[in-house]
Amino acid sequence: MKRLVLAVMAVGMLVAGAVQSAEELHNPGGIGGVESLRGASELEATRAADAMKRFPRDQGTIDSDYVYQPPLVPHTIRNYEVSLNANKCLACHSWKNANEMGATKISVTHYQTREGQVLSDVSPRRYFCLQCHVPQADAKPLVENEFQRVDALR
Ligand code: HEC
Ligand code: HEC
Repeated sequence: MKRLVLAVMAVGMLVAGAVQSAEELHNPGGIGGVESLRGASELEATRAADAMKRFPRDQGTIDSDYVYQPPLVPHTIRNYEVSLNANKCLACHSWKNANEMGATKISVTHYQTREGQVLSDVSPRRYFCLQCHVPQADAKPLVENEFQRVDALR
């Protein structure tokens, strides 16, 4: 009986091993063949960084395409730190500094919590500016896009 159990276990381990190596053959980088619009990169490989985007100067702000769109950033943001310790954006855009810096004030929505309570300082959910505002770049769309600007903004 004991022998039979051992034999069954041995066969089981062999089969499991074969299945595993077949999987490795099939899925070499461990990404299961998944590819994003930016291409595939295997888990253990470091992909070369994309070329830096160009942020043309003096291009003006590109108009919004829909109501309540976070406006695009019309200037470079190179080396602007936004972290636990510092928020460079607020050095120009906070209500305190905007006038002096000649920058647009962040709107009152940036002071509201998600329950609608208005705080005396920027709401944590609006602290990481680049979550919503991206710099304007001359970048090709990744996929074909037929989005039309809403009538009210045409
Ligand atoms: C040195 C000051 C300064 C800093 C720092 C700065 N900005 Fe600006 N920003 C401006 C000025 C001035 C404008 C007005 C347009 C212009 O002249 O480029 C502006 C315009 C904008 C606009 C467009 C506003 C509108 O009404 O269309 C956005 C969005 C913006 N900035 C976001 C940011 C974000 C996000 C950061 C941080 C990553 C940042 N800015 C850092 C000065 C600054
Ligand atoms: C969760 C998304 C979100 C985050 C985070 C966010 N914003 Fe905005 N922002 C918006 C939207 C949406 C608008 C346009 C509607 C409005 O004013 O709320 C806007 C508007 C603005 C405007 C134009 C205001 C005006 O009166 O025209 C400026 C400037 C701006 N944001 C700067 C910032 C800065 C600086 C930060 C970081 C401290 C920031 N935003 C964080 C979504 C965001």
